[in-house]
Amino acid sequence: MGAGYVGLSTMAMLLDLGLEVSVLESDENRVNMLTRGASPIDEPGLTDMLRDGLDRGAVRFSAEAALALEGCDVVFVCVGTPEGDDGAADLSAVVSVIDSVERHAPRATTVIKSTVPPGTTASLQIRFNSLKLAVNPEFLRQGSAVADAINPTRVVVGTERPDAHDALKGLYALMADRGTPQVFTTFTSAELIKYASNSFLAVKVAFINEIADLCEATGASVADVKLGMGLDPRIGDRFLQAGPGFGGSCLPKDTAALAHTARHFGTPLSIVEAVITANRQRRASLGDRVIRAADPRDVGAAGVLGLTFKAATDDTRESPAIDLVEGLLAKGISVAAFDPGVRPNGSIPSGASVVSTIYEVFDAADVVAVATEWPEFADLDFAEAAARMSGDTIVDLRGILDRENVERAGLRLVSVGAR
Ligand code: UGA
Repeated sequence: MGAGYVGLSTMAMLLDLGLEVSVLESDENRVNMLTRGASPIDEPGLTDMLRDGLDRGAVRFSAEAALALEGCDVVFVCVGTPEGDDGAADLSAVVSVIDSVERHAPRATTVIKSTVPPGTTASLQIRFNSLKLAVNPEFLRQGSAVADAINPTRVVVGTERPDAHDALKGLYALMADRGTPQVFTTFTSAELIKYASNSFLAVKVAFINEIADLCEATGASVADVKLGMGLDPRIGDRFLQAGPGFGGSCLPKDTAALAHTARHFGTPLSIVEAVITANRQRRASLGDRVIRAADPRDVGAAGVLGLTFKAATDDTRESPAIDLVEGLLAKGISVAAFDPGVRPNGSIPSGASVVSTIYEVFDAADVVAVATEWPEFADLDFAEAAARMSGDTIVDLRGILDRENVERAGLRLVSVGAR
């Protein structure tokens, strides 16, 4: 249920397990696209899985619940749980989908893949007491969604009825045979595993970002600090890349929802609260950071490399790069931006222009900032860039540029976590 990132990756995972899959999606355009073999999202391997499934007659799409649910033994709920005004997750789409399962496939095992706050599935089981519910959080990353869904780091399942437990054990037996670790637990523990995992990742990123600020102030190098820390196997070097702050559709939303849940239970999570505040402030300060890095009196035009919240995706939701563009526009600075994943008419703040070739970003720019870590930005010809610019400052908010390369072209490089 739901043909977004999680739904389509789950489809791919189920096809890979050799099952027949029916996908319910309320957006008729998406249904038509998918039925023609075109994926509405850009994820490596997805189109191939989709076309192969269609060719074999193993997958079908529908906008009608009755049709989509016909004959299904297991139903995966993969709809969004957006952040409400108070930070709490909005569960209305999940409830409405389970409502239609109750009407059209009451004997199916209903598996909640959507990220739902601790306690949700237990109360849904009371409300829909004739349904067999399970919760099975998803850990895929955008940009490698299909590979992550097919070969996950672990399978986490929460069930509280033997029939639902057995159904999920059977479904994931093939993955267990392949050696994928599996954690079968209660509803609430499974839900909390998802939030605690994403929040811990957010802690790592927010931590290294503050260390990066300290590196800038003291003259240390965050790249070396990360290297030295990461060699301790208890720490590891993953998710310690300093940058413009974390974004995307998951980490910001899930930290807010976990903090909200904890406050509700009277056990506030002060570390997660601090991470949310630190990240918000960092993203709100990006425009100022870039202006300060150049000669502030001379900045009238800026170039921005990257608009997506990270590389290898076309997703600009909650993207720090968009915060940067907004921060610059708010100071009256004109902005030209380029992103390999975003079309020139893609959705970005009005007032900024999205150019169609990479070097146009440098045209008459007083300062250019790297906001997303697309590898092609590191391979630029900086002599060409320098010839096009009015100013001479490049701000690398992702720490991906080679200093020598940039400076050889007569440009100044101001890199995150370095002086
Ligand atoms: C995240 C988790 O990594 C997945 O495990 C989880 O399944 C997913 O959320 C979800 O809940 O659906 P995703 O949002 O695709 O995946 O992106 P990440 O790769 O986690 O990156 C999140 C943000 O942190 C990005 O803005 C990224 O640029 C930033 N980041 C990440 C850093 O600034 N530094 C790092 O070292 C790592």
